[in-house]
Amino acid sequence: MSRSAHPAGPRHADVLPEGHYSAPAEDLNALDPKVWARTVRRDEDGALTVGGLPVTRLAEEFGTPAFFLDETDFRARCRAWRDAFGADADVFYAGKAFLSRAVVRWLHEEGLNLDVCSGGELATALDAGMPAARIAFHGNNKTTAEIRRAVEAGVGRIVLDSFEEIVRVAHVADELGVRQPVQIRVTVGVEAHTHEFIATAHEDQKFGLALAGGQAAEAVRRALKLDGLELIGIHSHIGSQIFDMAGFEVSARRVVQLLAEVRDEHGVELPEIDLGGGLGIAYTSDDDPREPHEIAKALGEIVTRECESAGLATPRISVEPGRAIVGPTAFTLYEVGTVKPLEGLRTYVSVDGGMSDNIRTALYDAEYTVTLASRTSDAEPMLVRVVGKHCESGDIVVRDAFLPADLAPGDLLAVPATGAYCRSMASNYNHALRPPVVAVDEGAARVVVRRETEEDLLRLDVG
Ligand SMILES: Cc1ncc(COP(=O)(O)O)c(C=O)c1O
Repeated sequence: MSRSAHPAGPRHADVLPEGHYSAPAEDLNALDPKVWARTVRRDEDGALTVGGLPVTRLAEEFGTPAFFLDETDFRARCRAWRDAFGADADVFYAGKAFLSRAVVRWLHEEGLNLDVCSGGELATALDAGMPAARIAFHGNNKTTAEIRRAVEAGVGRIVLDSFEEIVRVAHVADELGVRQPVQIRVTVGVEAHTHEFIATAHEDQKFGLALAGGQAAEAVRRALKLDGLELIGIHSHIGSQIFDMAGFEVSARRVVQLLAEVRDEHGVELPEIDLGGGLGIAYTSDDDPREPHEIAKALGEIVTRECESAGLATPRISVEPGRAIVGPTAFTLYEVGTVKPLEGLRTYVSVDGGMSDNIRTALYDAEYTVTLASRTSDAEPMLVRVVGKHCESGDIVVRDAFLPADLAPGDLLAVPATGAYCRSMASNYNHALRPPVVAVDEGAARVVVRRETEEDLLRLDVG
């Protein structure tokens, strides 16, 4: 059982009767390697360490709240993905999960490509030296200026998401006198999240062009007619935090079916397919993610089998993991400000961050675990809800967890697996100053994104 509490009844009831939760069986000081970045340990004083550096020292130097990113782990995960997919496939890191110039350099050095989905992400990638040819540009409503910037830079592919965009990209490419490689993003009628996937009826969303009803086939028809576009493949992304490969199986089958239809109608075999990202990670001990080599093997087999039965040569496969690379590599360090027991319910523990640095709990009902990071404790477990400091009762960081009953203001708490979609979705709600990201590697820590200051806030407010 994980250290996050497991309610026996409805998962997220607001009020839980006493005894509704059973205390965790295991040691509250233990660290489950599934949810923590690889170099995280406890030192002889009981403090959590990352890259050999105790969080007590890191908090003094960099303050709290702060994200600590294990660079050793990040690079190792990049290599694991690259090696698993090999030279015949491409791994594009999804920058939306977390992007900074340091991250771009690590990706470049470790041989990964990069998926960006806005002018800002593109600017960061180019500024940090990612070769444009290794960048894929996504987005359901790219502006003409963004398209122009991407085509001028020479990005390796633009993923087309609408009929309007087919024309816009072709027009910009014509103006610049180039032929822009593009893929068409299709909606395959599959939506997958965590352990479930649903096939059919998920065309009702803003991304992509639906296979059902022939929109995707029509997009291919239009793209093939335009000189400014070089149609290199089909793209599909089916969801997030996926553990079960069944959704990918349906997606691959439907994409390959489109490739066969394109061959039959146009006599063209498109050379690439991209199966998107969405691979799950362990947020709590209950999650069992697959290793990159298992994912690569499963996807390779699915695509090869489907292509064989359609009489097609196997196309080059690409994937776009974001969360699965950066998610597990970081944790957020908070300082406890108040400890408020609610008789017969639970104890509310307020920390110095909250929904401004982790919106996922409020937005997606995401589950996290938490540990006392500045010391160990032998005190009894108490059921807690870790909340932030914002003016919003939904400002919850960890909905249900156990922490030692002697927890006190000034203690440091660490929430693991916050590398993806936390800093990148951070906000200034209540004029909070967004936390820094500190990279730690073999005993050295350096800020890669600095903490915001009040001057930063006031600079934007031009009065
Ligand atoms: C097109 C596309 N690719 C890749 C990703 C990355 O997903 P994840 O971080 O879950 O791997 C997303 C996420 O929304 C996406 O929309």
